[in-house]
Amino acid sequence: MNPGRSGQTIAVVGAGGQLGQDLVRLLGEDCRPLTRADLDLDRPDSIRAGLEAVRPALVINTAAYNFVDRAEDEPEQALRTNAVGPLYLARFCRELNAPLVHISTDYVFGRDRHRQQPYRETDRPGPVNCYGISKLTGEYFVQESWPEGTYVVRTCGLYGLHGRGGKGGNFVETILRLAAERPELRVVDDQRCTPTFTQDLAQAILDLIRLRPEPGIYHVTNSGDCTWYEFAAAILRESGLDARCVPISSAEYSTRAERPRYSVLDNTKWRSLGLPELRHWREALKDYLAQRSRFRRSAS
Ligand SMILES: NC(=O)c1ccc[n+]([C@@H]2O[C@H](COP(=O)([O-])OP(=O)(O)OC[C@H]3O[C@@H](n4cnc5c(N)ncnc54)[C@H](OP(=O)(O)O)[C@@H]3O)[C@@H](O)[C@H]2O)c1
Repeated sequence: MNPGRSGQTIAVVGAGGQLGQDLVRLLGEDCRPLTRADLDLDRPDSIRAGLEAVRPALVINTAAYNFVDRAEDEPEQALRTNAVGPLYLARFCRELNAPLVHISTDYVFGRDRHRQQPYRETDRPGPVNCYGISKLTGEYFVQESWPEGTYVVRTCGLYGLHGRGGKGGNFVETILRLAAERPELRVVDDQRCTPTFTQDLAQAILDLIRLRPEPGIYHVTNSGDCTWYEFAAAILRESGLDARCVPISSAEYSTRAERPRYSVLDNTKWRSLGLPELRHWREALKDYLAQRSRFRRSAS
């Protein structure tokens, strides 16, 4: 069995999200998109029924509870969707002998507040908020439930053209919206990571499932790194917008959940598979903005 080759059914859980939609487009006819209505991670009976209806050769789980601040006030919900649901999903995948690609996050790191070196897969995780704890628990659950069949893909700062991206729910869209409303934006300059375009990540996941390396954790992001201020400044420059962008500290922008100061992921393990390095975040951003304006022109 070699899922990822034509004719093998691949189920995408969370098919309506940013990454989910790009995967569905890329996989084409081999894909069975599963939205929350088809498979609800909060309900084990729905997970079994959703998978039994499709009997996939491989499952990609892109669904998650992604509300980082809200998770501080409803940790039970974050754990249910990001940890307990994936545990059942991995168990049913094992029953079906279907490999599972489970998407996780750079937010499993952050506890080392002096870190300035990209994190490798072998580094000890340590989240600083409930969302990160829920995603890390999910990683442990899926790996423990289906050790021979689980790939954990950790990524960072996702933005995509579809899914909630289209509804203005990613960082790029937020900056563009605020720049139209205000003369000046204040953006944190002491949180460093690697924003990643979901189209690039979707292609990388396809490359991974075609290659089928050893199961385990893989760090996959666009290359390079920046602070959110640097990213926002690049968005404004590339879009030709003249709103002023002012760097501020996390202390000046208080949020319910703490964020990692540094969560750049080292992609060396990925490259050692012989798989292509993902392009620099600046190139990916330019492509996103170009596609976005083509998309808007054709829609108007
Ligand atoms: N976004 C980021 O910056 C980021 C960074 C690092 C890692 N990640 C990880 O990357 C993955 C994809 O992120 P994304 O940005 O593409 O997510 P997204 O756009 O927020 O989409 C998440 C999807 O999950 C679905 N979902 C939520 N709860 C569900 C449940 N109980 N059962 C079934 N489906 C459910 C949502 O459906 P509804 O619309 O019905 O709620 C939505 O379609 C996630 O694992 C996320 O943790 C994201």
